Amino acid sequence: MPQVIVAIGAGSIGQAIARRVSAGKHVLLADIRADNAELAAKTLDDAGFTVSTATVDVSSRASVEALVQKATALGEIWGLIHAAGVSPSQASPETILKVDLYGTALVLELFGNVMARGGSGIVIASQSGHRLPPLSAEHNKALATTPTEDLLALPMLQPVTDSLHAYQLSKRGNSLRVMAEAVRWGKRGARINTISPGIIITPLANDELKGPRGPGYRRMIEASAAGRAGTPDEVGNVGALLMGPEGAFITGSDFLMDGGVTAAWWFGDLGPK
Ligand SMILES: NC(=O)c1ccc[n+]([C@@H]2O[C@H](COP(=O)([O-])OP(=O)(O)OC[C@H]3O[C@@H](n4cnc5c(N)ncnc54)[C@H](O)[C@@H]3O)[C@@H](O)[C@H]2O)c1
Repeated sequence: MPQVIVAIGAGSIGQAIARRVSAGKHVLLADIRADNAELAAKTLDDAGFTVSTATVDVSSRASVEALVQKATALGEIWGLIHAAGVSPSQASPETILKVDLYGTALVLELFGNVMARGGSGIVIASQSGHRLPPLSAEHNKALATTPTEDLLALPMLQPVTDSLHAYQLSKRGNSLRVMAEAVRWGKRGARINTISPGIIITPLANDELKGPRGPGYRRMIEASAAGRAGTPDEVGNVGALLMGPEGAFITGSDFLMDGGVTAAWWFGDLGPK
């Protein structure tokens, strides 16, 4: 039976990880924009991968259920790369919570029911979640374990009216959710981790650099230890470690890779004074 890698979000980061983990497997590239999925599929097909595409809106249960059906009809689900999302300059707070928080919970819930024994998954969160001050134990638990369909009604989310705050809460929520889901996925013999990248040059990051938060983004890059933005291929390296045999002891973890921006935020020149 073919081994399937499902990559949701056919953008730069999703593609970079897929290229590292999909040789000899069938890649199902899914995106809300069929043209994004088709373009990525052509690039991967030209590089020797076996690829098919699907359209999915991760903020719709029926749509993610249809994707699960399509994926399981292709073979055993060995890998999940969840790299679909919207950034603060691209969407309203409501849309960010619906796509980045609820959509991720939905993907984890539904793919967690079908992962193969020995399979593994990755969710792309963000350094942004690491800049949010600590949440209470009660809020952590709510984001980690509230049933998917009740998540958006959580009282802690009702005062959120700012896109950046919605993004930070969603991304913190992704890491917490992944930790909780690692318990359930572990019972199937599957692993799941989060990568929290810093500024990685992609169309999404370019929207941020050109948007109202551009100067703040450039300051983050200048004040970081690395002194530069990251590349999708560097996220691909961490993805390959986490999804491959050398990552077999790693599950329920969150990997911050941001060139030192978060360190500079909490303990260096960037942070809240
Ligand atoms: N680029 C960065 O600097 C950076 C940093 C930290 C985290 N991230 C996260 O990485 C992930 C991937 O971003 P990227 O930089 O590769 O951006 P990208 O714009 O290249 O890719 C994102 C993809 O998600 C798709 N998408 C958006 N809404 C969707 C929905 N409802 N259902 C399905 N697909 C949807 C888009 O069509 C797009 O193809 C996002 O979750 C983003 O928040 C990016």
